Amino acid sequence: MAGGRRAAGLLPGWGCCLLLCCAAASKVEVSMPALVEVEIGGTARLECNFSIPEDGSYTYISWFYIDRNSQVKLCHITDSVVLEDTDYRERLSVGEDKALSISKVTVQDARTFVCQVGAAGYDLGENRTELHVYKVPETPEIVANSGGVSVQSSEMPQIAQCVSRNSFPRPNITWHKNGVRLQPEENTVRFTATRTRESSGLYTVSSTLFAHVTRDDRNSSFHCTVHYWLQGQRRAVESRRVSVKVFYPTEHLNLRVMPSSALVKEGDDVKLFCEADGNPGPIFSFYKRGLEDSWQDLTPLTDTNRGVLSLNNVNKSSSGLYRCQTLDLDSMKQLEKDMELVVNYIEGLHVEMEPSSPVVEGGSVKLSCDAHSPLALQYQWSDAKGREIGKGNQLLLNNLTFETSSTFSCKVNAPSVPGLEQSKQVAVAVRGKPRIVSISSPLYVRHDEVVNLTCKAIAFPRPSVRWSINGTAHEYVENQHIASNLTVRVNRDLLRAGAMCRVSNEMGISEERIQLLETPESKGVIIVAIIVSILVVAVLGAVIYFLHKKGKLPCGRTGKQDITKPEARKDKIVVDVKSDKLSEEAGLLQGANGEKRPAADQSEKYIDLRN
Ligand SMILES: *[C@@H]1O[C@H](CO)[C@@H](O)[C@H](O)[C@H]1NC(C)=O
Ligand SMILES: *[C@@H]1O[C@H](CO)[C@@H](O)[C@H](O)[C@H]1NC(C)=O
Ligand SMILES: *[C@@H]1O[C@H](CO)[C@@H](O)[C@H](O)[C@H]1NC(C)=O
Ligand SMILES: *[C@@H]1O[C@H](CO)[C@@H](O)[C@H](O)[C@H]1NC(C)=O
Ligand SMILES: *[C@@H]1O[C@H](CO)[C@@H](O)[C@H](O)[C@H]1NC(C)=O
Ligand SMILES: *[C@@H]1O[C@H](CO)[C@@H](O)[C@H](O)[C@H]1NC(C)=O
Repeated sequence: MAGGRRAAGLLPGWGCCLLLCCAAASKVEVSMPALVEVEIGGTARLECNFSIPEDGSYTYISWFYIDRNSQVKLCHITDSVVLEDTDYRERLSVGEDKALSISKVTVQDARTFVCQVGAAGYDLGENRTELHVYKVPETPEIVANSGGVSVQSSEMPQIAQCVSRNSFPRPNITWHKNGVRLQPEENTVRFTATRTRESSGLYTVSSTLFAHVTRDDRNSSFHCTVHYWLQGQRRAVESRRVSVKVFYPTEHLNLRVMPSSALVKEGDDVKLFCEADGNPGPIFSFYKRGLEDSWQDLTPLTDTNRGVLSLNNVNKSSSGLYRCQTLDLDSMKQLEKDMELVVNYIEGLHVEMEPSSPVVEGGSVKLSCDAHSPLALQYQWSDAKGREIGKGNQLLLNNLTFETSSTFSCKVNAPSVPGLEQSKQVAVAVRGKPRIVSISSPLYVRHDEVVNLTCKAIAFPRPSVRWSINGTAHEYVENQHIASNLTVRVNRDLLRAGAMCRVSNEMGISEERIQLLETPESKGVIIVAIIVSILVVAVLGAVIYFLHKKGKLPCGRTGKQDITKPEARKDKIVVDVKSDKLSEEAGLLQGANGEKRPAADQSEKYIDLRN
């Protein structure tokens, strides 16, 4: 026991010599892992296994740490555990298996720990464990150059900065572009690295990447990676990926027209787009070539930032050579691109008529339509109602009548440019003698009735209408039609002679008669007339018989005739009435509105002729 105590006090070198010289003698074997790695802040558990020959038991176990060349005792274990008064005192504990646990491990705990085991009758055994501490780095923070970098910068511009905080031991930072690791290259890629030791003993490392960029780098992504060792293995944490704004001068210009240049037509709103591949975009100017190679500045029509020239309602004179010019404000380099704009047009559309003077009814006329355009043209004719009546630049109109005279329209279009078309109208007037197209004859009337006599004619030049009788006339004119309404009171003369409608113009005269037929007053009147006639006949018969009996009247044929003559006239009225009865009955059959029938007939005729 006392020997064991003495052994505990021995210096390591002494114990070592003892082990070496007594190698053959049985001794306590102590088994410990050579290395233990523990994360900072965690608990380090240092095991100390031992074996004592012949199943002997230990007399003591001591733990030390090595400080430079000396061993500092941490604790002494016999039946009980005695913690020595060291800085570790608060953080130490000893397990059932005599393993030493150190909690809240710090950077300073990275050192060598020794476990000594003494047993009576045997040489003491000892072994040691090196404690490594580590701290896994946090995900590195990357900050890209927010100002953007120019491909033309003479010095290597800064691309991004990367910081990895609080790790142990010191990690390394690498740089990557589009996932590929960057290596320093003279005049192209360079990194700087700094490291800071925090008061906690942890490292904060940072690195800055400087590199020349090209225009392709506008799409590049950059990231940094922090590399560290953990339990003998190399580990890495990547930052997020960042991109930088890359400034590059314009190298190519493209000038195009919207809509498609082949289809530009007069009246269109056209835009010329000048596209530059620089970043930022250059300043745009537009010019149009004028006479003698002069260039007209179109800045007022230009969006100088976007490179758009707006030409509204273009015409033939808008055609020509256009130039887009750019100025790169970074390099002060100028570029230009030209483009020919062709505005398709149709001009000088006119229609000629042959003969040019108004045609006589029944005659014919030839219409010719012509226009100028650099494009192939198609002609099409239509009438006043828009119906297509012919193709080609000539139209022959035969057998012209007042009805066919109207306006014709020639439409010209360029099939190669949709929407490019024009049209022109021409009026074809047909001259001729008036033609009466509708007349209210025969007209059924009553005596003393006020009626409307209607006469309608078509003619050009405009005719005048005359009536053979007095009355109130109203005229209505529509296109080449003229209608005259004459309001008259029916009298005997009118019934006898009818009314004449005469329409005339400088080309001639047409006339037609309106026949008026009398309608009896009513059936009652007829019956009364018949009864009266029968009574008169009866009375006359009685008188004649009486006179005959008296012999005052000669029984001659002539005499009888003379007497019957007035009756015959009365009979004739009756007969006339009877002969009219058919038509009267026809009128009655139509009911109360029967009288309006003739008027309805006329209006139907009127409608027919308008069409
Ligand atoms: C220490 O322990 C290890 C692991 O058990 C063993 O391999 C080694 O030989 C021991 N060293 C001494 C000096 O006992
Ligand atoms: C110590 O002993 C324990 C239990 O037998 C075993 O799990 C552990 O691996 C041993 N450690 C060493 C360093 O021999
Ligand atoms: C960091 O770089 C040094 C020097 O190149 C190297 O020795 C070390 O192993 C590197 N560490 C890691 C974690 O890669
Ligand atoms: C023109 O009128 C005449 C006589 O009525 C007729 O024979 C001829 O077919 C008509 N022509 C046309 C093109 O209508
Ligand atoms: C028409 O009226 C005028 C004047 O009022 C008269 O002179 C003329 O004789 C009349 N004509 C007929 C046909 O009644
Ligand atoms: C002319 O008189 C007829 C018959 O009364 C009538 O139907 C017609 O509307 C009149 N014409 C016009 C244009 O007023």
